[in-house]
Amino acid sequence: MRAILCERFGPPEDLVLAEIATPEPGPGEVRIKVAAAALNFFDTLIIQNKYQYTPDLPFSPAGEIAGVIDAVGEGVDAARIGERVLSYVRWGGAREAVVVPADEALPMPQGLGFEAAAGLMITYGTTIYALRSRANLRAGESLAVLGASGGVGLAAVEIGHLMGADVIACASSDDKLALCQSHGAGRLVTYSDQDLKTTLKGLTDGRGVNVVYDPVGGDLAEAALRATSWCGRFLVIGFASGTIPKMPLNLVMLKSVDVLGVFWGEAIRRDPVGHAENMALIMGWVEEGKLSPHVDRRYPLEETAKAIRAIANRDVRGKVIITI
Ligand SMILES: NC(=O)c1ccc[n+]([C@@H]2O[C@H](COP(=O)([O-])OP(=O)(O)OC[C@H]3O[C@@H](n4cnc5c(N)ncnc54)[C@H](OP(=O)(O)O)[C@@H]3O)[C@@H](O)[C@H]2O)c1
Repeated sequence: MRAILCERFGPPEDLVLAEIATPEPGPGEVRIKVAAAALNFFDTLIIQNKYQYTPDLPFSPAGEIAGVIDAVGEGVDAARIGERVLSYVRWGGAREAVVVPADEALPMPQGLGFEAAAGLMITYGTTIYALRSRANLRAGESLAVLGASGGVGLAAVEIGHLMGADVIACASSDDKLALCQSHGAGRLVTYSDQDLKTTLKGLTDGRGVNVVYDPVGGDLAEAALRATSWCGRFLVIGFASGTIPKMPLNLVMLKSVDVLGVFWGEAIRRDPVGHAENMALIMGWVEEGKLSPHVDRRYPLEETAKAIRAIANRDVRGKVIITI
């Protein structure tokens, strides 16, 4: 089968297309014929060995996939062959087939194609965990989302809106914000030319925002922290800007702010029950037609490097999909 391999850590252009043996499922496992794999910002880092996980070489990028079960291992019901599933695989999705534990191949929600389904787990899973399990976001609260047109950002706009929050999308261009508006953002801030702190305070009549969702970091993080309300919550999602901010703790003390870390990949391992509850909510919203990952662009498997380069260039909105 064909696979995109990272044989040595480096830029996307070092990835190679290779022919490798098709894997066989072991006991308790299923093999998925991959139809689509989704890329995320962390794929730009993991291939350079700059991410929190270091896979053994060679490995394939792409942390989430959708496809059809075409073989099962011992102990797995053969009736699952032919089932349309999606799965979070951490890395290794950019190839024609993957083997996963049977309970990690989740039935695809009705009404969703393979491309959108491939992009459902990481961004929406992270965001429901952040907004529901960590921040306890309540209807009527204000939610400022930084990097709001990106993968996790757009998911936060959509889920925040579904949870009844007053969503303030913050991004670098009007064009990116137009997409956020069409996905449920009530108010918009262009942080490339508006001062983030002053604008967020102004939009909340000086009270500040109840919850900040920050996948960007850098200077924007402190500006957003300064714009939180009394007892606000600040969700630390990631650092797409490339800079991990150092925050003055007096700001946290003076407004009784909760700074909440969000590490979804570890949380789902430690709390599988909470993860299942959160994913059931997401799947329910998808089946009711209230959520559908926005696929910005799609690339064939052999152009995976171009796809990862587009993410690194800050060029994409929503999800980037590899079609197989
Ligand atoms: N904590 C967790 O469990 C978890 C889970 C998933 C993802 N994450 C993290 O969340 C962050 C975003 O991931 P994503 O997949 O949503 O990324 P993405 O789709 O590429 O979106 C990132 C957004 O960040 C903004 N940005 C600012 N400076 C940037 C730069 N130098 N390069 C690229 N983007 C920049 C961009 O919006 P503007 O142009 O509008 O500023 C962009 O839309 C990453 O750090 C990722 O590792 C964390």
